[in-house]
This record gives sequence, C-alpha cells and structure tokens, in this order.
Amino acid sequence: MNDRLEQEHQAFEAALAAVEDEAGLYRLQVAYLGKKGSITGLSKQMGGLSPDARKSLGAELNRVKAAIEAAIEGRRTALSDAARARDLARIEDLTMPPVQPPLGTLHPLTLARRALCDTFRRMGFDVAEGPHVEHGAYNFDALNIQADHPARDMQDTFFVAGTPGTPRADAELVLRTHTSPVQIRTMLDSRRSPPIRIIAPGTVFRVDDDATHSPMFHQIEGLYVDRGVTMADLKATLLQFTAAFFGRALQIRLRPSYFPFVEPGAECDMQCPFCSRFSGTCGVCKGSGWIELGGSGMVHPAVFESVGLDPEVYSGWAFGFGIDRMAMLMYGIPDLRLLFDGDVRFLRGFAS
Ligand code: DAH
Repeated sequence: MNDRLEQEHQAFEAALAAVEDEAGLYRLQVAYLGKKGSITGLSKQMGGLSPDARKSLGAELNRVKAAIEAAIEGRRTALSDAARARDLARIEDLTMPPVQPPLGTLHPLTLARRALCDTFRRMGFDVAEGPHVEHGAYNFDALNIQADHPARDMQDTFFVAGTPGTPRADAELVLRTHTSPVQIRTMLDSRRSPPIRIIAPGTVFRVDDDATHSPMFHQIEGLYVDRGVTMADLKATLLQFTAAFFGRALQIRLRPSYFPFVEPGAECDMQCPFCSRFSGTCGVCKGSGWIELGGSGMVHPAVFESVGLDPEVYSGWAFGFGIDRMAMLMYGIPDLRLLFDGDVRFLRGFAS
C-alpha cells in the first residue's frame, strides 16, 4: 500500500509539471484529492488493514496529501502571477500621459449667472425658473400690462403661433420679453406662500438688433413678498448684494421711473466698482460714477390681485436687471455681440 501511495505521488508530480492552466490544475486536483480521487481511494482501503499497517499508512497518507495540496496551491499562485505578468506586458508604457479629450469652458454668462445666484442664495433667496415660451397672460396681463401697451406691439415682441386644432390654440403665446413672468409663476405656485424670496435668472427675447442690443439677452429678476416689506428693504438688499458681489461697499441710487407692475417704480444704479469714486475718467461708467442695473419698485396691488394675494396684507419689492452688461463689466468685454457669436477663440479665454 505504501508503495502504491508513493507511485501515486510520483505520478501526480509528473502530471503537475505538464499542467498549463488553471483549468488543468483543477482537473488534477479532482483526480487526486476529489471524492473519487486516487489518494482518497487509498485512504478508503485502510479499513481492511492491521492496526499497525493502518497507522503507518495513515501517517504517510497525511504527509502525501499535504504535499499535494501545497504543490497545487504553489502552482495556482505561479499561474496567476504569470497571467498578470502577461497582461502587464501587453501595455507598452504605463507612465505615458493619457490623451486628453478636448474640454470646453463655461461661457462668461454662465459664470456671471452662477456668481450672481451664489451671492443671492447666501442671502436667503431661492433660484426660480420659467419657460422661454410664455403665456401672454403671464408675460403681460398679470403684470398689469394692458392690451394697448406698446410692449405688446409686434415691433417689440416675438409672438408664437399656437398649434391649430389643439385646445387653446388661439391663446396668446410669446417668447418672454422679460423675466418678470417668473414673479407671477412663483406667486401662483401653491407650494409657495409669503414670505417669498426668489431670484430668477434667464434668457429673454425682444425684436431688437444692433451693436448694443441683441434679440436674445439675459435678465435676473428678484422678488421679495411678505407682510410689511418696504422700499428700504429693497435698498438694503441691493446694498448687501453689491457689497458681497464686488467685495466692497458700493452706493445704490434709486431714480423714480415707471413700470406697470410696480408702484412706486425706480431705475436702479450702482456706484461704479471700476473707478475711483466719481473720478470722471472711468471708461466703464463714462465718468458718471454710476452704472445702471435696471428697473425696480414695490409690487403693484394689481399684480398681487392677479395672483390672489391680498395687497392690504402683503407688500413686496421686485427688480429686473440685465446680466449681459454685468458680465461685460466683470470680464472687461467691450462688445455685446462677442457674448453671442460663439467664437471659441474668445470663449476659451474664460477657462474656469
Ligand atoms: N421687466 C422689466 C423690463 O424688462 C424690468 C423690471 C422693472 C423688472 C421693474 C422689475 C421691476 O421686477 O420691478 O424692462
């Protein structure tokens, strides 16, 4: 019996030397140590031996089994090491830098919009959005802009034809001429009730095209509605905003003006952050010391009524500023059209 065991062991060593892969190694393992394997078979025959013979064969069996197990494990490690080395050898140079895909850059208007939103968010405002194709009812009527108002003229507004045969095909649709309809959408939103504090940045459209006007441009709307809101809150908010945005205290100037959706209404200017104050030589503010931001005022009672808020209970301020000009100021861009030409040589200058 001990001889048979020795023969099996030698046969195993020879077979192991011929094994080429993991599958072969596994077959070998089964052939010797599996349930029906030859070593297992020998151990089953021990029952018929004398106690002495059984003892000596038992010790031998354990020794050979352990040797076979160790040899198989050793070979398995060697095989997987060799496979890994083959894989690595296929890759020619691991230190080569990867090929960089061409990366885009953020548009200066995107950078400006994000910076504005970040500043207002920190002041407690939510960012709200509205569609570019807007109901005439939201763009005009709910904002107290009557049917005969010049803003509704074909000269100023892009009208959008409804799809014939669909419900409300004849309802007035426009490319929104300002971001103010987002005020209406926000106040109508049943999930919101005062206090409402939002800004709404976005694209707006007007029939207008020359060196300083584009048919598509960008505004940021602000709205704050609560009980007891006053014009002082508007000015305080704008002072805090300009200080946070430009990094130093800048004055705000409100000049009386008319917009149908506010009363009183005001043009809003900010002290020029680019010149030493009122120096008379600055190219950005042309020496005036002020930069126009846009319109503002106290939300008109008619606007509150159109969205079902009681103007006797609530008051609020709103503003609508152009952001293209702000981006031009921030980045020293001399011509509005550069923003919309899509010239990548120009846009690449704004790597962020
Ligand atoms: N929507 C106005 C425009 O585009 C700007 C504006 C003026 C917005 C006064 C306001 C406001 O919210 O209070 O000309």
